[in-house]
Formats: sequence, C-alpha cells, structure tokens
Amino acid sequence: MCSKEGAKVLPPHVLIFPLPAQGHLNSMLNLAQLLCLSHFHVTFIVSEFNHRRLLNHTTTHSTFARYPGFRFQTIPDGLPDHHPRAGLRAMDIIPSVLKISGPCFNQMMIENHLFASAGSTRPVTCIIADGWLSFAADFAEENGIPLIYFRTVSACALWAYFCTIKVIEANEIPFRENGMDELVRSIPGMEGLLRCRDLPSICRVDDAKDPTLWHRITLTMQTVRAKAVILNTFEDLEQPVLSNIRQHMPRLYTIGPGNAHLKSRLGGNKADASTPSASLWAEDRSCIDWLNAQKSKSVIYVSFGSITTVTREQLLEFWHGLVNSKQRFLWVIRPDSVTGEDGDRIPAELKECSKENGYMVEWAPQEEVLNHAAVGGFLTHCGWNSTLESIVAGVPMICWPYFADQLVTSRFVSEVWKIGLDIKDSCERVVIENAVRELMEVRKDEFLERASCLANMARMTVGEGGSSYCNLNDLVEYIESFVN
Ligand code: UDX
Repeated sequence: MCSKEGAKVLPPHVLIFPLPAQGHLNSMLNLAQLLCLSHFHVTFIVSEFNHRRLLNHTTTHSTFARYPGFRFQTIPDGLPDHHPRAGLRAMDIIPSVLKISGPCFNQMMIENHLFASAGSTRPVTCIIADGWLSFAADFAEENGIPLIYFRTVSACALWAYFCTIKVIEANEIPFRENGMDELVRSIPGMEGLLRCRDLPSICRVDDAKDPTLWHRITLTMQTVRAKAVILNTFEDLEQPVLSNIRQHMPRLYTIGPGNAHLKSRLGGNKADASTPSASLWAEDRSCIDWLNAQKSKSVIYVSFGSITTVTREQLLEFWHGLVNSKQRFLWVIRPDSVTGEDGDRIPAELKECSKENGYMVEWAPQEEVLNHAAVGGFLTHCGWNSTLESIVAGVPMICWPYFADQLVTSRFVSEVWKIGLDIKDSCERVVIENAVRELMEVRKDEFLERASCLANMARMTVGEGGSSYCNLNDLVEYIESFVN
C-alpha cells in the first residue's frame, strides 16, 4: 500500500476476539484469514486454554505464519483448566469471559501497546468481536475505536433471539402446559413456522423473568451498538430474515459460508479441498481410510459438534437406532461427550459391536468427511458451522439439536430449506432408525437433489461476483475507510 507521495502506508490493523469455543474459533479464524488475504494486519485473541490445544493438535500456527501481519494474543478465559467446557456447563464460558477476560482485555490493550504504533504495525484501527462480548462495545465507545460484531449463528437464529422480547411481551413464554407444538405468533416473518419447541433453548423457562433468559436477551439486543454486523451466511439462503434484521442493523455484511469463501479466495476450485484445521482435539484421519472403502453416498456421518453431551442411555438409543437402520455410519464420540460413570471414552463394547457397519472416532476432519464421496447424510446437532459445512457439501441432514440457536436452525433445515429432517427432543432408537432410513433410502433422491441445488448456490455466492464475495469486498473497503 502506497500513499500518493510514494511513502509506504501501513494497512489497517484489525483485532478479532471470538468467544473461546470451537464453533466461534473456526468461523472467526476463517474471517481472520480472509482479511489477511487483503493484506490487513490481524491480532487474534485466543484463550490461553485453547491456545495450548491449538498448538498440540493443529497446523493453525504454520498456516498463519505465511501472513507476516498476523499474530495470536492470548488471554485468560477465567475457567480453571479442569472445567468441562461441555454440555450445559459450556455456557459458563459466557459469564466467565465477561467477568475475567473483559478487564484483562482493557489492560492488554494498554500493556501490549495496541493503541500505539509498534514498528510496522498500526495501533488497532478496528475491533471485530464476537456478539456475546458486550465489554468490547464499552471499550470501543470509551476509546473511539470502530467496533464490528460477528455473530456466529444463522440469521434465522439471531432474529429469533432478537425477537425473544416480543415473545415475552406476547405472553408466549413460559409455554402453556403441553404447548411445545403451539405456533409462535410474535416473531415477524416466522409466524406459522416456529413452534415453541423451535425457539432458542433459553426460552424453555418457567418464569418469564428468568435471569439467564434476560441476560441473553440483553446481550443480543446490544448487538446494535456496533457500527456493523457480520454474519456467516449468504443472501440466497436467508434473504427474508436478513431483511428483517437489516431494519435494526442496517450495515449487515453476509460473507458466508466462511469455509467455502476462504477456499475460493485461496484459489482452490476443488470442493473437497479443506481449509486448515483449527481443531481443539486431535483429528483421527483413520476414518478417511475407512470411508475410502465404502460405496458412494452409503454412509451416514454422525457428529454433535464440540459442546453437546449425551447420557449413556441416549448414546445407546443412538447406537441401536443406527445399527437397526442397517446403514453404514461414521460416528464421532468426543472423549468428553458421554456423561455419567465411565462416560469419558467410547464404550469398548459399542466399538466392538459396530465393526460390521460402523466406524467410531473421537474427532474427525469434518469438512473432509462431509465432502467425501461415501457420505450421503449427516446426523447433526445443527451447530451453525456444521450446518453450513453440510450445505456446502450438498449433504442432507437429520437434525437432533442440543440447545441454543440449534433449535431454530434445525427447523429451517427441515421446513424452509427442506434438506433434512428435524427430530428435536427425541432420540429413541425407533425414531433414529426411521429417520436414517427416510434420509438414506426412502426420500434419498429428493433430499439429495435439493441439497445439491443449495450447495451450488453456496459455491456461487462466494465466487467472483457472488453476493458474499461482493460483501466481503465492501467490508474490506469499509474497514479501510477507518484509516483514511
Ligand atoms: C456452537 C454452536 O452450536 C453454533 O451454532 C455456534 O455457531 C457456534 O458455537 P458447536 O456446538 O461446536 O458450536 O457446533 P458447530 O458450530 O457445528 O461447530 C463445530 C465445528 O467443529 C465445526 O466447524 C466442525 O467442522 C468441527 N468439527 C466437529 C470437527 O472438525 N471435527 C469433529 O469431529 C466435529
């Protein structure tokens, strides 16, 4: 970058701060790399705990070593190392980060001279923070630094969170007795679609004054304090909802799917090329060898992301359902995902009995798995990264959402995009067996056709001239405008 006089002008310096959890890390690292490709300087905040895991399990550091303007900056997340960070206790991370990382962040900005020019890097010219981090807005306002919020969830989930206050005002929370299947009437644009059971899990309370419910509402409502908002989605997928959100957040950049976008900008034209992994667990690549030996579209991939936990009983229901379906399956069972006694490892007998039809690993290279020719379906918890990765790969889904945003997204997968089945709130063996059969046999062609159509749209949107491609260019220009 050169000024008119020929003197070298330093590029913008963006500070990116995700919530310290796998799904947030993945999507915001994709954004970091996209900005590095525009020659921006990027300081990426990562928790000390996750930083150690990234160093142990990934090539993330060598990937980013090729960008001289990129650096990691570590910060405590406030939780002890032995905290499970999984299941419902995963949510402890939000209050902990707000209480502990927030003040550390202020101090770090001063001590690490992020306000002052350091050699060939400008002071931070823009902060891109996870939408949950309200202290970033306080800091940005106090110090006059432009703030952009990044929300890692789908637009439909964000809108449902944003409208929760309307749902309370309409007395639709708490749900009426046996009212889980009643339609919610107070979310504009979603009338006739969302049932009470499809609302974000914070809405499942007995008292509309529930403090956690109100805490999440307050955090969501304050998204509008940022100068702009970034969403990891694309216009063709969520257009009507995006129009509603834009009435409150007019400067909204949809730049997703982030993984496909990055791949496209890196020049990879092969759909099966994976972006660098940022896994917090070691990937077991033996599953790729196993997939190589399977027939085309014959395998259902089963994974519930980085947070979901299941009881031993639920695990057995899934197992019976999968085995009874007679379909081949590749199942990720994280070491920390089974609760209860002896719950921290894949039960040996399950592994042994599954040999004929299935394969189990503790963590998989998911994008590569979803793009493998042998995979024909995905039994997922509907985390937004997993959902988008499946959409890009053209793989239909069975959705068993665990909590939070996933309950809304799964409804959209089945009823709006019609690329799968939503079995929320139930994982009895017969439900699993029937759903797998329906997805992989009975309605296979129908689902595959729609999934393939959506996958094409996703790839087009990140290609030159596509909406996400153009929106990223606009975002880059917008961030550049802060230094001119
Ligand atoms: C959570 C929320 O559920 C999600 O909706 C939100 O957007 C981010 O935080 P998580 O539950 O972990 O994330 O799910 P998801 O968003 O799907 O992210 C999981 C990531 O881990 C995906 O990118 C997936 O590719 C990766 N993964 C998962 C692996 O690489 N290997 C695995 O074996 C399992």
